[in-house]
Amino acid sequence: MDSQTRIEPPKYTATGLRTVHGLSILDPIPYAPPAKVACLPSSQDATLITASRNTLLLTGVTGLLGSYLVRDLLLDGRGLAVVARRDRKRSAADRVEAIVRSWEDVLGRVLPRPVVIEGDLTRPDCGLDAASLEWIATHCDEVLHNAASLTFRGTDPACEPWRTNVQGTRHVLDVCRQAGIRHFHHVSTAYVCGLRDGTVREDELEVGQDFGNDYERSKVAAERLVRGADHLDTVTVFRPSIIVGDSRTGFTSTYHGLFAVLRLGHTLLTRVLIGSTSGPALVALLGVGADDGKNFVPVDWVSDVVSHAVQSPAARGRTYHLTHPNPVPMDTIGRLVQQAVETYSRAAQADDPDLCDERWFADTMREQLDIYRSYLRNDPTFDRTNTLAIAGHLPCPDLDMPTLMRMARFAIEHDFGRRPVATVESRPARGATAVLS
Ligand SMILES: NC(=O)c1ccc[n+]([C@@H]2O[C@H](COP(=O)([O-])OP(=O)(O)OC[C@H]3O[C@@H](n4cnc5c(N)ncnc54)[C@H](OP(=O)(O)O)[C@@H]3O)[C@@H](O)[C@H]2O)c1
Repeated sequence: MDSQTRIEPPKYTATGLRTVHGLSILDPIPYAPPAKVACLPSSQDATLITASRNTLLLTGVTGLLGSYLVRDLLLDGRGLAVVARRDRKRSAADRVEAIVRSWEDVLGRVLPRPVVIEGDLTRPDCGLDAASLEWIATHCDEVLHNAASLTFRGTDPACEPWRTNVQGTRHVLDVCRQAGIRHFHHVSTAYVCGLRDGTVREDELEVGQDFGNDYERSKVAAERLVRGADHLDTVTVFRPSIIVGDSRTGFTSTYHGLFAVLRLGHTLLTRVLIGSTSGPALVALLGVGADDGKNFVPVDWVSDVVSHAVQSPAARGRTYHLTHPNPVPMDTIGRLVQQAVETYSRAAQADDPDLCDERWFADTMREQLDIYRSYLRNDPTFDRTNTLAIAGHLPCPDLDMPTLMRMARFAIEHDFGRRPVATVESRPARGATAVLS
C-alpha cells in the first residue's frame, strides 16, 4: 500500500474502521433490520414503527452529507424517518435503499432501514399527504433539516437557491408546527458570515456584513426563519465550512470549493496542449494570496459531530461552527492541484478530439472567475468554542497532503461527478474496506 492510499486517522479502530460512540461499526446492531426500506403511507412496517415519538425526521438524505448522516444515525440505533424526493428514474424509497445498501456493502453488516417519506421541500407541507403528516405527528419528536440547494447565483425568490433554502425551510417549519415537533436541528453554513474577516463567533449572524453570493444570503434568510419560529422549544444550528470528501477514502458526490480549482487545473492539462500545468500559477491568476487560508472539513467528521450533537440533549439550543482549526493555505492548494493533475490526469494529446486552444481556456476562465473567487477568498477565523465543548473528543482529521491527494484522486478518477459514484456499485469505500482488511 503506498502512502497515498494508506488510511489510518487516529480515531479508527485497529481494523481501521470507524467507531460510533465507542461502538465498532463491526459490532452487531441491537435490533434486527427489516428486509426493505419502509415507505409511507402504504407499507408501514409494524416491526419498524414501534416506539412513539422518538423518531428523528431527516431531510437531504440523498446528498453528500445526508448519506453520511444516515449511516451514522442508523449505526447509533436512532429511529429515523427521511423526507426525500424521487428522481427521473427512481422513487424516493429506491434512492434511499441504494444508499443504505451501499453502506451495508462498505461496512460488511446489515443496517436497519429508515422510514422513507416521499416529499419535495419546495411544495407546501413539503408535498406530504395527510397520512404522512399524521404519521410524523405520531412518531417524530425532532427534525434534522439538512437539505439545501447549493446553487450560488440566483436573485429570483421563486428560483434556486431561494426556493429550497428559504421556502423549503419554511415548509419544513410548517410541518413541525402541524406535527407538534418542538426541537429543530438546522444545517446552515459557516459562510453566513459572508465577506467578514477577523473572528466570527458562533452566536453571531447578521452584523451588517456583505455577502459573496446568493447562496450565502439564502442560508442567512433560512437561519433567520428557523430562529424566529416561536413554535419551537430548541433551535440547534450547525455551520460547516466547505465540506470536502471522506478523509479516509476521498469519496465525494459534490465538487465545490477545493474541487473547483482542481477541475480548472485538470481541464487545462487535459484539453489544452500545454504539456504541464502550474497549480501555483493558477492560484495566482485567480488573484488570491499564497498565504490566504481556506477552511475545509471532511464529510465524515461533519457527520460524526452532527450525529453526536443530535443525540445529546445538552447540545440543543446552540450554534456550532463545524470548521477546521487549521485552514489550508492557498499555496498548498496550488501545489496540490499541480501534483494531482500531473499524477492522475492524462495530458492532452495532439490528436484528441476535444482539444481546445488556450484562448478557449482563457475565455472560459474569465467567464467563471467571480465564481472561483467567491470560493477561494481568504476565510475569517471561525470561533469553535461551542463545538469544542460538545465534540472536543472528536478531533477534525488533518487535511495533510496525502489526504488531500486522496480526495483529488477520487475527483479526477470520477471525472468530477460525470462518472456515477453514489450507488452501491461505485461507492469507493468498498475498495477502502478491502484495503483496510
Ligand atoms: N457542501 C458544502 O461544502 C457545504 C458547506 C457548508 C454547509 N453545507 C450545507 O450542508 C447541507 C448538505 O449539503 P451537501 O453538500 O450534502 O449538499 P448536496 O450533496 O447537494 O445535497 C443536497 C440534498 O438536499 C436535497 N434537496 C435539495 N432540494 C430539495 C428539495 N426541494 N426537496 C427535497 N430535497 C431537496 C437533495 O436532494 P436530491 O438528491 O433530490 O437533489 C440532497 O439530498 C446543506 O444544508 C448545505 O447548505 C454544505
